[in-house]
Amino acid sequence: MSVDATGEKILVTAALPYANGPLHLGHLAGAYIPADVYVRYQRQKGADVLFICGSDEHGVPITIRADREGVTPQEIVDRYHAVMADSFRRMAIHFDNYSRTSLPLHHRISQEFFLNLHRKGFIREEMVRQFYCAPCRRFLPDRYIEGECPLCHEAGARGDQCEACGRWLEPELLIAPKCKVCGASPELRSTRHWYFALSRFQESLERWQASKPEWKSNVREFCSGWFKEGLTDRPITRDIDWGVPVPLPGAEGKVLYVWFDAPIGYISSSVEWAEKQGQPERWRDYWMDPATRLVHFIGKDNIVFHAIVWPAALMAHGDYVLPAQIPANEFLNIEGRKISTSRNWAIWVDDYLEVFPPDPLRYYFEVNAPENKDADFTWKDFQARNNGDLADVLGNLVNRCLSFIEKHFEARVPPAGTLQPADRELLDAVGRAPAAIGAALDQFQVRRAVTELMDLARAGNKYFNDAAPWAELKKDRERCATILNTTLQLQLALSALMEPFMPQSAEKLRLMLGRPASLVGEPWGGIGGRTLADGQPLGPREILFHKIEDPIIAEQAAKLGT
Ligand code: 2FM
Ligand code: ZN
Repeated sequence: MSVDATGEKILVTAALPYANGPLHLGHLAGAYIPADVYVRYQRQKGADVLFICGSDEHGVPITIRADREGVTPQEIVDRYHAVMADSFRRMAIHFDNYSRTSLPLHHRISQEFFLNLHRKGFIREEMVRQFYCAPCRRFLPDRYIEGECPLCHEAGARGDQCEACGRWLEPELLIAPKCKVCGASPELRSTRHWYFALSRFQESLERWQASKPEWKSNVREFCSGWFKEGLTDRPITRDIDWGVPVPLPGAEGKVLYVWFDAPIGYISSSVEWAEKQGQPERWRDYWMDPATRLVHFIGKDNIVFHAIVWPAALMAHGDYVLPAQIPANEFLNIEGRKISTSRNWAIWVDDYLEVFPPDPLRYYFEVNAPENKDADFTWKDFQARNNGDLADVLGNLVNRCLSFIEKHFEARVPPAGTLQPADRELLDAVGRAPAAIGAALDQFQVRRAVTELMDLARAGNKYFNDAAPWAELKKDRERCATILNTTLQLQLALSALMEPFMPQSAEKLRLMLGRPASLVGEPWGGIGGRTLADGQPLGPREILFHKIEDPIIAEQAAKLGT
């Protein structure tokens, strides 16, 4: 544990992405980059953090893709689980465990969870009428039915939602419903399902949420809308053959609804982590200790499941902590349009990484995070942020200072000498930065935090320009040394403060400053001390951020929608 350990125990999760396609930029901006920044910062602060994720491998999104490609759902999830895990790794989004919900371990834990609720009387059985497709010989999940929207009368509305008017639907209400697979008209048949008694948790949920005034307004407002309408019991089983089998006699052919088992994936991924550590009980230290802060990073489409249904399931179960925070981000658009993977109006993370390093994109989504409203990614903006903030401000400061020292001070830290007010002013700004950035991150405001970081780099640039060490070199070599020393102390602080946001560049900078790559033993609270010793050799210099030229950007932009 590090020197300024806060003693806090934080269990951080990021929404389990469906393993039905590669990761795209919308995924990163919504949940994964903010979560990774938060985790890296909390670790530097000394908190005991477990960071959990995994692939969501069940549900209709998977089976639809498998049907379309004529392969099994298992083949689909095997393929995309590997692709997503690789994209996360290359983006330096570092989970303690990245699991999968198709594992037997997850099936067992989900079934135990279901049986626990069943035993306690929170799950009941009911006969319901549902569409059945005779040629396909199966009941049709909502998304397998298409028809005319009863509200806006557009064709092609899905059983659960009409994309044209955005409203939620019940499949029985569709006009002229058709099976999406074979086109036949389905018929209504009786089938047995299990319902979770969500309505019984309304009061407890409302009371619990009233104690969370610090939650983001998008989450609180969304929930109060649901409370106002009144919570109703929810079916948590489905008639498909891909998923976690319902563990009850007479339930053959039924599986748990994907949104029932997916959040349980946070628990099973933690259990798998503990097993891999050779300490199989350790997950309990997080899930069963009331002092643990459970934080779920999600996109706004997941709010109802994380802020209402899942906490109710946790309350019903009773053994585990409830979420302390649910930072939900809004959506990301691309070049002013909603992301659509079917129309290829999306940018895939592995395509991006073929051309660019991870940090410029991380930075872009930190400074443009869709925290309070939808954000828009444009290639031009991305280029401007990279070339302006990263290359011209941060990279240029580093390069100018280090090349000057190489040339005139034998690539060693010039002596600090006597400080003047301007030097002290910059060092004071450095001293204030960890608390300012930290306060923003503690409140999940990545945008504000990274802006503070960049403001400090800007202050460094201004200081360097005003102090003009090149003009002092001949006149007053000692003064010149002090300016360079002060700029180096700033850069060392930047390299530590940058770590949560741009971990690879932070490491690169530390190596250039002649420091170890790792930050172990250099806690957040200690950043800003004058820790670079006079005379210490600097490391080999390289370019911190490369500029991106127009043709490269034009080439990327041309790929959209094709
Ligand atoms: O929206 C999605 O991509 C879902 N797969 C998120 C699941 S989050 C959690 F509950 F696992
Ligand atoms: Zn059919």
